[in-house]
Amino acid sequence: MTVEIIFIVGAGQMGSGIAQTAIQAGYQVILYDLEEGILEKARAGIAKRLNRLVEKGKLGGEEKEKSLARLAGSLDLNDARDADLVIEAVIEDEAIKGEIFKKLDGICKGEAVLASNTSSISITQLAANTKRPEQVIGMHFFNPVPVMKLLEITRGLNTSEETLKVAQEVGQSLGKVTIVSKDSPGFIVNRLLDPMLNEAIYLLDEGVASKEDIDSGMVYGCNHPMGPLALADLIGLDVLLAVMEVLYREYGDPKYRPCPLLRRMVRAGKLGKKTGEGFYKYD
Ligand code: CAA
Repeated sequence: MTVEIIFIVGAGQMGSGIAQTAIQAGYQVILYDLEEGILEKARAGIAKRLNRLVEKGKLGGEEKEKSLARLAGSLDLNDARDADLVIEAVIEDEAIKGEIFKKLDGICKGEAVLASNTSSISITQLAANTKRPEQVIGMHFFNPVPVMKLLEITRGLNTSEETLKVAQEVGQSLGKVTIVSKDSPGFIVNRLLDPMLNEAIYLLDEGVASKEDIDSGMVYGCNHPMGPLALADLIGLDVLLAVMEVLYREYGDPKYRPCPLLRRMVRAGKLGKKTGEGFYKYD
């Protein structure tokens, strides 16, 4: 199947990053969210980032205009009817995602592939909300999407070879390196990364070291581009907590228990960069 139109559900930082990458790669993109204001913010952010690429000489002015012309906004899920591929990128809530998959299954054409950008929820579970489980797959992008080279693809129990091929081809056309995981909690990357971030929060909560020293430890000792607490802020502390909850619940292993400080931060609405404050403050 050739993918030409991609419908993206959710215009937050992941959805808008995926949209930017897809329009730059030549796809027609329809970006859906619940409110006009969210769509406007996403479009403005994409335009700003493309302008920056033009200023840096990495993108031609005409190409920028052509890319932006390939982006449409939508407040109506029914606009997914002609899409070849849908990528769902809403909050990490199984019930909300499940409801969206159910609706999309009724709206989308028979051959359309339904993908989720989930970082932790079972693809097999999401697929169970549809009558096309063989056409449901995980396409997990990394933040910031235009910069990060990885696309982690997850096969649900029923995902077909054909669907896997579509996801791999789209990923490669977006300039991503693709890796494939079975539908196991945390898949590959978050099973490795998030317990490390959670442990950094334990170090802080226990008063073992300052946040600056915890971050410097991994930046200068392990060559990470940013420290774990700064990265947790970038990812979003609510997202990190949601992933840790899934790992803890699904494996039933105490090594995945979310740090109490992480819970407190989320309860206080300090979700990281997107709310202006997490472990650090942002303008
Ligand atoms: N959108 C688009 N481009 C961005 C960007 C954004 N939000 N943030 C930075 N960039 C670009 C900059 O424009 C710059 O581009 P050029 O090289 O072309 O000039 C480049 O990225 C580097 O940016 P900066 O010089 O401003 O800053 P930096 O060198 O410190 O890099 C970073 C910033 C790319 C975020 C880097 O610190 C990094 O790679 N951090 C780790 C990110 C990471 O691990 N992400 C994965 C998170 S896990 C996840 O997302 C999955 C999950 O399920 C939780």
